[in-house]
Amino acid sequence: MRKHIVAGNWKMNTDLAETQELIDGLKKINKTSDAEVIIAPPFTNLYTAFESLKDTDIEVAAQNMHQSSSGAFTGEISASMLKGVGIKTVILGHSERRAYFGEKEDLLAEKVNAALENSMKVIYCFGEELKDRNFGEHFEVVNKQISQALFHLDADAWKHIVLAYEPVWAIGTGETASPDQAQEMHAFIRKTIAEEYSKELADSITILYGGSVKPNNAEEIFSKPDVDGGLIGGASLKAEDFMAIVNAF
Ligand code: G3H
Repeated sequence: MRKHIVAGNWKMNTDLAETQELIDGLKKINKTSDAEVIIAPPFTNLYTAFESLKDTDIEVAAQNMHQSSSGAFTGEISASMLKGVGIKTVILGHSERRAYFGEKEDLLAEKVNAALENSMKVIYCFGEELKDRNFGEHFEVVNKQISQALFHLDADAWKHIVLAYEPVWAIGTGETASPDQAQEMHAFIRKTIAEEYSKELADSITILYGGSVKPNNAEEIFSKPDVDGGLIGGASLKAEDFMAIVNAF
């Protein structure tokens, strides 16, 4: 059986005090589902988050990292720096990194390699824009985003990869892909991986859906057979909402 994961991407929200408050809120709510829980606060709060959660089963992830191990890259953070504060998971390829910071598949492949070389787990994000879907090109776009950043990996490396399908038109818009649209794309992703590697490998990969997942729609989205969890933005900033989504499994 595949691992269920619900991850909260806090994006550029929360200062240190707010991080502590949100974490205190999360710790007070019982987890009743089998989903693994991950939160991704901003860089400045990772150490505090890790320390506050190290005796719990909530994992802490970074939202991005640089592909190099060190050097003259002002303002950047490396995998070893993340590991130094206890972080073993990183989100890569989020659509906001792609849109605002020009990240493309060739760079993302380097970042994925750097994370794996440092024994980190990667949550690799991708998803089509509205224009791609309107032109009927959404499968092609997603295929390219996955194949060009990940298909150089050997089968073994995929043990450390989680995929997150996030249609750009559904992020922060309140408009979510319908559960059937999410299922259709997740099944396509699995088929694409099966064709490149094997059905066995494709069946083992956790694929998250992200894009306006809320407490009131999580259960229906998670009920789809190829949806193994969610990457949650806005709703991860309220402990009750986030844990309601976690407990929707
Ligand atoms: O990383 C999370 C996604 O961008 C979804 O964000 O739940 O605010 O739509 P959202």
